[in-house]
Amino acid sequence: MVGVVFRREDVPREAVSSRACAVIDVLRAGTTVARAFAAGAREVRLFRGLDEARAARARLGAEALLAGERDGLRPDGFELGNSPLEFTPERVAGRIVLFTTTNGVSALADCEQAPFVAMASLVNAGAVARALARRKEDVLLVASGTRGRYSAEDVLCAGRLAERLLDEAAGPLALDDGALVALEFARANASRELDVLARSEHGRTLVSLGLGADLELCAEADSVAVVPVMARDPLRLVAAAHGGREAPLGSPGRAGDARGG
Ligand code: MLT
Repeated sequence: MVGVVFRREDVPREAVSSRACAVIDVLRAGTTVARAFAAGAREVRLFRGLDEARAARARLGAEALLAGERDGLRPDGFELGNSPLEFTPERVAGRIVLFTTTNGVSALADCEQAPFVAMASLVNAGAVARALARRKEDVLLVASGTRGRYSAEDVLCAGRLAERLLDEAAGPLALDDGALVALEFARANASRELDVLARSEHGRTLVSLGLGADLELCAEADSVAVVPVMARDPLRLVAAAHGGREAPLGSPGRAGDARGG
């Protein structure tokens, strides 16, 4: 079974513990994380709040890097924002990225009880779909949305993932109604990634902030083969390279709110 929810607020907490999840944030956290790993970041630690991220930076020193956004922009004192263009090997190779964003990081933390959580965006959708298919579990695709509202670009990516999962499945695969709707949206917009991103609400907001160049990078479908996978204690993403073997979730204990060590 493949299910899709269209806002992170709709994640079914009771069902998550038995599903393999992909958390989708095309604009931009999911793309940024994929690019960070492609550029050689060691891990991406997740923080809901700015202050916890800053405290971790003070504790960890120069091996760590503060990155993220509030209202789309780099917070005071942060070394990097949430533009995937900033995550170059020169900036992030070998570093621990301390990451806090408005929706994407919270959506990951909302799925913390799942046995497997990958972060997905258009740039690594193919690799994430292969990793999900190998697990042979029911799948939940979480289109994180923006501030409690649907995001067209996340629904597009959910549909792409559903399409790939159908391709990968050995036999028939049941889709819930959310997955059916996302699949039809993706099929109707095949090869029109940039157009969907440019017309989306969040895409237009980013353009108005002078961040339009990010959209082009976020629209580059299947350009990155990394699968960022959630691990706990501290809550973080680690890379499963080339869509290959998934990294373990680590100890099954609760980590509480998104927080890094
Ligand atoms: C988020 O996680 O809220 C987004 O990635 C926002 C953004 O575009 O920076």
